[in-house]
Amino acid sequence: MKALTWQGKRSVSVEDVPDPSIQEPTDAIVRITSTAICGSDLHLYEVLGPFMNKGDVLGHEPMGIVESVGSSVTNLQPGDRVVIPFNISCGHCWMCNNGLQSQCETTQVHQQGTGASIFGYSELYGSVPGGQAEYLRVPHADYGPVKVGNDLPDERYLYLSDILPTAWQAVQYAAVPDGGTLAVFGLGPVGQFSSRVGKYLGHRVIAVEPVPERRAMAERHGIETVDFTKDVGDVLREMTDGRGPDAVVDAVGMEAHNSPLGAFAQNAVGLLPDAIAKKAIETAGVDRLTVLHACIDAVRRGGTVSLSGVYGGTASPMPLLTMFDKQIQTRMGQCNVRRWTDELLPIVEDPSDPLGVMDLKTHEVPLDEAPEAYKTFQKKQDGCIKVVLKP
Ligand SMILES: NC(=O)c1ccc[n+]([C@@H]2O[C@H](COP(=O)([O-])OP(=O)(O)OC[C@H]3O[C@@H](n4cnc5c(N)ncnc54)[C@H](O)[C@@H]3O)[C@@H](O)[C@H]2O)c1
Ligand SMILES: [Zn+2]
Ligand SMILES: [Zn+2]
Repeated sequence: MKALTWQGKRSVSVEDVPDPSIQEPTDAIVRITSTAICGSDLHLYEVLGPFMNKGDVLGHEPMGIVESVGSSVTNLQPGDRVVIPFNISCGHCWMCNNGLQSQCETTQVHQQGTGASIFGYSELYGSVPGGQAEYLRVPHADYGPVKVGNDLPDERYLYLSDILPTAWQAVQYAAVPDGGTLAVFGLGPVGQFSSRVGKYLGHRVIAVEPVPERRAMAERHGIETVDFTKDVGDVLREMTDGRGPDAVVDAVGMEAHNSPLGAFAQNAVGLLPDAIAKKAIETAGVDRLTVLHACIDAVRRGGTVSLSGVYGGTASPMPLLTMFDKQIQTRMGQCNVRRWTDELLPIVEDPSDPLGVMDLKTHEVPLDEAPEAYKTFQKKQDGCIKVVLKP
């Protein structure tokens, strides 16, 4: 089959790879009909390269049709239409039973000391072949895949694999009080949905984003927007009685713009031999922290910062004095996708499309054109906000 593979820093290509097959009784094989490129894929394309191996199949936002199932998969049958959550979780361990599927004890990657395995997401998350491919082997298919109806287009459902539950969790974790204001940093796909979810749940939402067409998309959905500037904290305080928003979602992560030092360090790491680069990323903290610092500055005293943007590096300097003094609460982490999908399914099927899932995709291309689409998405060219690949 054809699959999108990682070849090196900022280099991906479509290659012929062996078809996946059932290896465990809890596996299923799914023929992929739609599969999206995520902001998280850009970390693999760029910073997390040292944890990738040449030929790794990328992709963790797939959906499609079940081709075959292992002997203990009784909830699915060939022909079912399913969306695949990006975390691989078992559904029966302590973590899964407590809504922490991203920490699943059955699929944690002990070698790396990380949480649940993730499709197509480097050695850090188990080197599991991903879903930007014609077919995908889905482990723990007796729990993970979300069965969906046959009538609505793929885009109604596709984002349940990752960004919609991620946005939902980000806003839940932000704990905005009634009548409160939520600021969302970043208007990529995750920020677009976080803003719309905040609005849907009745909050005032102000989004911060440097790219004009991304602000325009949010404005179409009734979101107030501002550009990212050095004094964005002051701008947000001015808009909120001088106090600052009650909660802030960081939907940017380590690809932030305007972090020259971080960018330099990341590029330097990109040039080191893998073993040294891995250590540099783990210990030196090469993150671009501009946005995180801006979130901590902007949030009102006693407010909440909810991080859904991905950060790496274990020695990142955090402004602990400010965080302590302002009594800031923080929540973060990979989304527990399966925890939220039952709640979200009726919302994406609602004919009035309250979260506007049909207004996100800007580019749809065949799998063969994925390498070009990665570039366009990373460089934010051609109005690109979300790319859906059709294998
Ligand atoms: N926690 C999870 O489970 C989870 C799931 C999916 C994605 N993510 C992470 O969420 C983040 C966003 O993902 P995405 O798909 O929306 O990616 P994206 O790269 O399209 O979005 C990032 C956005 O941030 C904007 N941005 C850059 N610098 C900024 C600044 N200084 N101020 C304000 N905005 C700025 C960019 O212009 C872009 O619109 C990524 O870090 C991704 O890895 C996390
Ligand atoms: Zn994703
Ligand atoms: Zn589990």
